[in-house]
Amino acid sequence: MKQVVMAYFGVQYRSALGRQAAREGLAFLRHAATLADGPRHHDLAFAIDEAGYDTLVWAAYWTDPASFERWQRGEELSRWWNSADRLEGPCGWFYEVAMPEVERFETLFSTVDRPEGVAHLAPSMSGAIREHAYWGSMRDRLPASQFDALRGSGARALPVPGRRVRLGGFENLALIRSGQDWSDTKGQERRLYLQQIEPQLREGMDFLRDGGADVGCLSNRYLVHVDEDFAPVERSYGLSMWRDLGHMERWAESHPTHAEIFGAFMQTVQKLEFQLDLRLYHEVSVVSAACQSFEYLNCHPKTGLLRLA
Ligand code: HEM
Repeated sequence: MKQVVMAYFGVQYRSALGRQAAREGLAFLRHAATLADGPRHHDLAFAIDEAGYDTLVWAAYWTDPASFERWQRGEELSRWWNSADRLEGPCGWFYEVAMPEVERFETLFSTVDRPEGVAHLAPSMSGAIREHAYWGSMRDRLPASQFDALRGSGARALPVPGRRVRLGGFENLALIRSGQDWSDTKGQERRLYLQQIEPQLREGMDFLRDGGADVGCLSNRYLVHVDEDFAPVERSYGLSMWRDLGHMERWAESHPTHAEIFGAFMQTVQKLEFQLDLRLYHEVSVVSAACQSFEYLNCHPKTGLLRLA
């Protein structure tokens, strides 16, 4: 494997009609996943965005860009995506796609037995690693950081508002999916997670969603996974795009909102003497401009990177 594809297809709505249409569209995407060249793994999660719209995000992963591109250009999918129905009606649709080479992403788990996201593409996990538990370890886990400072260029083509907005990439855009699974927690640990850690996490995610621009965060969603019937389950993730890795590092290391999440977690770890059923993971990519694509159809102007207009 040389290069993976992480594709986030989203739908937004704020009416019962919109919800129905969104669910029908997602049923189609799930069907499309079974077609030739479909993704190796996919999952679905829900968030409320900065404008108060309900948003469902279908995250799908491929082991190579060529199969993704064949899938995306396939007749059934392209007819559906390019249909006039996507440009009007009660829903907005978008995709945000990153295709990092293997030197440009890393994924890290607190336990080895339950993969999430891009880890589903790998046959197994490594053992424990040394590159963690210090600020800057994320960068050290990215092979490309050995020869590249991974700085953003600052220059970017701004989106022009419209019904169908396509956007090219941003040099060295940094993307993080940072996940939590509390489904196995019980008793004191469950209380500590839901009453101490999760509220801090939500506050941090709201800050990045609404005020993240000041710290270099271009877009943030705090999503809860949903099952086949769209009912929430006990797994969540924060998904955000940053000007570059340096901005993400500075927020994690020094901003009060991540410090509060980190602090609440450390207190829990100490109280429970390091015996945790809470599972955490993250995947971080630094993506060159040519390996990204974005498209927004009938979306409100604050959606994802559209807000940069
Ligand atoms: C319950 C939720 C979370 C907890 C308990 C948590 C806790 C932690 C901990 C313990 C570390 C240090 C990991 C290590 O190096 O071994 C860390 C690093 C980090 N966290 Fe969080 N975090 C959470 C959510 C998030 C979210 C949602 C984001 C971003 C959207 C985020 C961004 C980061 C980043 C970028 C680092 C790496 C910093 C570096 O290595 O330089 N975290 N977090």
